[in-house]
Formats: sequence, structure tokens, C-alpha cells
Amino acid sequence: MSPSIENQNNGDAVRSYTDDKNHTSTESTYTTSNGAPYPHPYESQRAGDNGPLLLQDFHLIDLLSHFDRERIPERVVHAKGSGAHGFYRTTNTLEDLSIADMFKEGKECPITVRFSTVGGEKGSHDCARDPRGFSVKFRTEEGNWDHVANNTPVFFLRDPAKFPHFIHTQKRVPNTNLTHADDSTFFWDYFAQNPESIHQVLILMGDRGIPDGYRFMHGYSGHTMKLINKEGKWVYAQIHMKSKQGTKFLTQEESTTKGPDYSQKDLFYAIEKGEYPGWDLSVQTMSPEQAEEVWEKQGINVFDLTHVWPQGQFPLRKVGEFFLNENVKNYFAEIEQIAFSPSHLVPGIEPSADPVLQSRLFSYADTHRHRIGANYQQLPVNQPRVPYRMANFQRDGPMAFYSQGERPNYLSSVDPIKFQPRSVDLNKTHGHFVGKAVTFLSEIRKEDFNAPRALWEKVFTEDARERWVENASGHMANIMHNKEDILKRMMSIFREVSEDLASRMEKATGVKGYDGISGLSFNGTHNGMAKDSSKRTANEADLTSVGNNGGPTKGSHQAVLSGNGIKA
Ligand code: HEM
Repeated sequence: MSPSIENQNNGDAVRSYTDDKNHTSTESTYTTSNGAPYPHPYESQRAGDNGPLLLQDFHLIDLLSHFDRERIPERVVHAKGSGAHGFYRTTNTLEDLSIADMFKEGKECPITVRFSTVGGEKGSHDCARDPRGFSVKFRTEEGNWDHVANNTPVFFLRDPAKFPHFIHTQKRVPNTNLTHADDSTFFWDYFAQNPESIHQVLILMGDRGIPDGYRFMHGYSGHTMKLINKEGKWVYAQIHMKSKQGTKFLTQEESTTKGPDYSQKDLFYAIEKGEYPGWDLSVQTMSPEQAEEVWEKQGINVFDLTHVWPQGQFPLRKVGEFFLNENVKNYFAEIEQIAFSPSHLVPGIEPSADPVLQSRLFSYADTHRHRIGANYQQLPVNQPRVPYRMANFQRDGPMAFYSQGERPNYLSSVDPIKFQPRSVDLNKTHGHFVGKAVTFLSEIRKEDFNAPRALWEKVFTEDARERWVENASGHMANIMHNKEDILKRMMSIFREVSEDLASRMEKATGVKGYDGISGLSFNGTHNGMAKDSSKRTANEADLTSVGNNGGPTKGSHQAVLSGNGIKA
């Protein structure tokens, strides 16, 4: 009997992603890319026994031309990485603070984590002295929340336009093509001109600069986020991921004894052996009023990524935990093509006004469109796994896999889609920003040295301080140009942190610095500590600095908290 023409869904005969991912060689038949069986992959068609090749040989052309296109651009930063799949579960509900579905009691969701180093290329060494990236894609029932974090609670900068400049100084030198391991001039020149980096430099040159693999490190949002609850009330939050394995580090010497893929190997085989690494997810929270108070009284700016929130004052509250229990089947498909973005948020979690975070909200999805393509969210590893049928009016573009069928590609009155109303009034939870546009560049102030000083004087042990001096002075030995000037400035910045740090480094490098930074001007930041006003402006140019250094001054949340001036 011939099949009925009406019941044939000819266009739907596609292979499933899971079937493809899990297939074995013995159940597979060799074919060209259009599916035609082919008897041997090494054959080519020639004109005669020793003549040139034939254009009709699709098998060979198919093979070579696909090979020619096997690479996608590596990530411009964080190119070297490792990852795995796992799951998250909420152990202590956060419903009083956030409407995020994933934070409800007992909620679970699948996750994929990618760890990375920052500066090196895709083939660089896992044991580089560098911060580590720690990104988690939480596939929640309200869409994907990407927590794109590092293993340090602070970062090198707080003015976003510095990021590409800073990263260039951590990468290869244009003419010599050397990394900072062989020529550290640009590396230290940047830090000598941007003293707000000092806290992160202390971490980088210290024990936490080379974690012993990825399982033994914590992760930190660094940025301040906002959590919104069902009453539309919100708090600022810092999000922490605490390793259940504890932390471990490698010394500089130990790192040289490890293979280039040390961390990849460690993570993969730990999971293979069933030693599933886990982390606790915790939050520190601060009310808008407290944010004003810590700025006014302690000079701690919640919008400043170089500052930390003291844990004694703002204790950690555990929300959940996650484990990595599944290795990838194919690194390229599941880790190289994964695309994290701080702008991939879900209701109940919002960005703060931190300018570096705001820039990142743009930068990641932008780079994904370049690195992977406009339809990067359609790739299986990036796809949301929501219980409702997601729909929008994005159409076509390169490699559009999901087409959204015949549904109208505009907001149709003929065939309308469903909308879910907002559960909180965003006009109330968003900030209330009024003022003239300003050009902003931050200035260095004495408070910027408080946390680095506590780290040096109270947290580091004596052994750790000795290792620090050895690591930093060893790295400084490779400054090839302007060494004296760069080191004098660095010693002066160290002196603002601690006389002990400065004098040890002066002894180790043989270069004496100034009394502090009050007599210096910097090309990267205004010097709020300069004695002479001519030294105060960055690059000695006539730039205006903003009086509050970008911090939330008293009363700055008043309008949004009282509802004043808000159009409902
Ligand atoms: C203005 C500041 C920043 C900009 C413009 C920026 C930009 C980028 C870009 C373009 C990538 C490559 C993404 C990709 O190709 O998939 C990246 C990766 C990454 N960034 Fe940033 N970044 C900034 C600051 C930060 C900060 C402060 C953190 C941590 C708190 C961070 C954490 C990461 C991580 C973890 C990755 C790797 C993501 C992955 O595993 O795929 N970045 N960043």
C-alpha cells in the first residue's frame, strides 16, 4: 500500500543532538557530508594513474574544504579553558530576596561550567600566573543565567575603557611577539600608571596566582549585582562560589614541573573517577542605605570592582550548591562553543550600575556574534531549556537551525503569541538616574589601599610574603625598557600599601621608590592623593574628575526608594 501523502512529514526527518552526541563508531557508516556512503576516506580521484586530481571528486573537496574551516576565532581573553557539566540545587531558599525561580526551596537545574586562564592563547600553559575565569551557565526554568566570574573578588580596573588597554599589556609585545614571561615591560608599566590595580596585583603575585588546578579555587562575581524580591524591593549582592574541596596553590617552582594541560587533566580525570568537585553558592547582601553608608563612612564603593565588601560586616549566606558530574563528549561542541554573558540574566537578578559590569553586558554577546555567529544561542550547549515554548521575532541569519516555523515574524494581530506579565514593577526597581552627562574617569584615593594593606599585613603569612617578593621581583627582572622609572613608581605604590612591602621589594630589586604617590601623576587615573594640583589629572591633561568617584553618595537612592519621580 502506498503511504498517504498528507501524513508524511518529509521536512522533519533530522537526527537528534543526543543521538549524535552518544553514538559509537561501530554503529556508524562512513559517508560524505551529504550522507552518501563512501568506501575509503583516503581515496582521491585522478586523471589516469599519475595525473592531476578531478574537480568532480566531492569526497576530497568536501574533506579539504571543511578542514580548511575547522577553526573558529579563539576567545580574545580566557582562550585556554576546561569545562564540564553538572547540576545546581538550592539548599536554603532565597525567596525573601529574589524572585528568581532557581532560588526557590529545593529547585535544581542543569549547569555547565568553564574555567580558564585569562591572558594566554588557546594552547598556553594551564599553570600560568594569572587570574582564573569561573563561568557557570545555570539552565533555569526561566532561562539561562550566566554567572561569569573569576577566582578573585576584585579586578585590575574600575574604568571600563581601560580593559582592552590592560589586556594588551598582558598579551604579546607587538614587535618582539614575546609574552610578559620574557618581556614584562608593558605588564609593569600599566600597573605603575594605574595604582587601583594594586589589590589584584597582590593576589596575582601571591599564592592565589597559580591555583592547583580548577577544583581547588573559589569564584566571585566581583561586581555588585541586584536581587529583586516579589514586593519589588531590592538589595545589592555579591555572589560567591566556595570550593567544597578547599583551596590549594602551586608555587612558581612547582608550576614549572607540570604539563601544559595540568588543570584540564586534573578536572577530567577527577570526574572520570567519580570524585565530583562541588561548590557552595553564597551571597553577601547590602541594602541601598547601607551602600551609601559604606561609601560615606568607609570609602567602599559598591560600584567599584577594585573594592571588596568586608565579610565581617556583610556575612555570607549560603543559597545552594553545585557539582560537576559529567565530562563532555566533545570539547569543541560543549566547551569551545559555549557562550557566557553577564547580560544573560533571569528575572530577580539584575546588574548594578557598576560601569565595568555595564560594559561587559555589551561586550560578551557582541564577541559571541563574531566568534560563533548571530545564532549562537541556538547551539545545543547554549540553548535555554525552559518548560514553556520560547518564541521571539529574531529570524534567519547564518546557520539558523530553529526557524520558529510559520509563525508570523512580527508582532502580529492576526496570529498573536502569548506574553507573560512582569512580576515586579521594573520602573520601581530600576535606579532613578538624573543628571547631566559626565565624562568619567576615577581617581586614586587613600581608601583604595585599605583592603590591599589588610591582605598584606593580616592575611598573608610570613612565608606567603616571602614567596610574593620572590615572584614579583623575579617577574620584574624581565622589564626591558624604562626599568628604573617603572620600578620607582611601583615601589611608591607598594609604599602606600605597606612600608614593609615597599622596603622588601626595594631590597629585592635594588630600586628605591618615592615616599608614596603624592608627588606622582599617572597617565591612567586621576591622582586624588597628589599634593600639587598639576599632578592631579590623568596624563596631566585637563580632565575633570567626578567628586564622588562614582560612589553612591548619601541620598542617591532616595528617589527610587521612596518612589519619588518615578513614572509608574
Ligand atoms: C570591561 C571589562 C571586561 C570586558 C570588556 C570583558 C570582555 C570579555 C570578552 C570579550 C571575553 C571573551 C568571551 C568569549 O569569547 O566567549 C571575556 C571572557 C571572560 N571574562 Fe571578561 N571582560 C571584562 C571583565 C571581566 C571581569 C571583571 C570578569 C570577572 C569578574 C571577567 C570574566 C570573564 C570570564 C570568566 C571569561 C571567560 C568566559 C568563558 O569561560 O567562556 N571579565 N571577557
